[in-house]
Amino acid sequence: MDIMKIKSMKGKEAIVVLTCYDYSTAKILEEEGVDIILVGDSLGNVVLGYDSTQEVTMNDMIRHTGAVRRGAVSSFIVSDMPYKSDDTTDLAVKNANMLIDAGADAVKVEGKPNIVRALVQNEIAVMGHIGHLPQTKKPMVHRDFKELLTEAEALQNSGAFAVVLEMVQSEISQKLTDFLDIPTIGIGAGAYCDGQVLVINDILGMFEDFKPRFVKRYAKINDEIRKSVRAYKKDVRKGEFPDEEHSFNDKIIK
Ligand code: KIV
Repeated sequence: MDIMKIKSMKGKEAIVVLTCYDYSTAKILEEEGVDIILVGDSLGNVVLGYDSTQEVTMNDMIRHTGAVRRGAVSSFIVSDMPYKSDDTTDLAVKNANMLIDAGADAVKVEGKPNIVRALVQNEIAVMGHIGHLPQTKKPMVHRDFKELLTEAEALQNSGAFAVVLEMVQSEISQKLTDFLDIPTIGIGAGAYCDGQVLVINDILGMFEDFKPRFVKRYAKINDEIRKSVRAYKKDVRKGEFPDEEHSFNDKIIK
């Protein structure tokens, strides 16, 4: 997967994007042919237990981007620029290059077309993000088409290769998708985007603190984890684990 291929999928084949934060899951996403793996700063909420994405640092993003790249060696990986890492163009270029060195193919920036332009001029591929912007910590407000189109076009003109539309009314995201030359990737933005992204912990049923309405749960992994933990606990308490099979009784340890 590369940027040319992603752009060529617009209007032809829905682009499948999922977030990922670790090595083992990244291996599965690569093997299952997910088009884009996003090391999102939702990492802060679903993995690191922070209250908001504002607490995510460059070190967090570098560490998790590296883990995902080690699992998904040939996938297209986008890493989020964390809060305040892109406050000035110089800082943004320096930090984006660190994410690229850690294994990302591109970075994602919330809003900020001037920063997107500077990154693209420095040969860093950028995915834009408009609509609800979690880093601002502002409550979601409904915005009209004109306003969002102006923002989306500014990102497109700045060289973004795709744009995430977060919590945008379906009707508006359909119009944006029609107007823009670059692919739109929706999250809570209806069915008419060129692609869809969701947080992997949400679709697996691994994050239960809250469930946005737009999330579809495809599994109840937490139930499986609980079942396994209870069974293990019971075995240990009753002295049924470890048994012969899981103990070393030979001189040679195999
Ligand atoms: O951090 C994130 O997970 C995102 C979304 C678009 C899913 O930015």
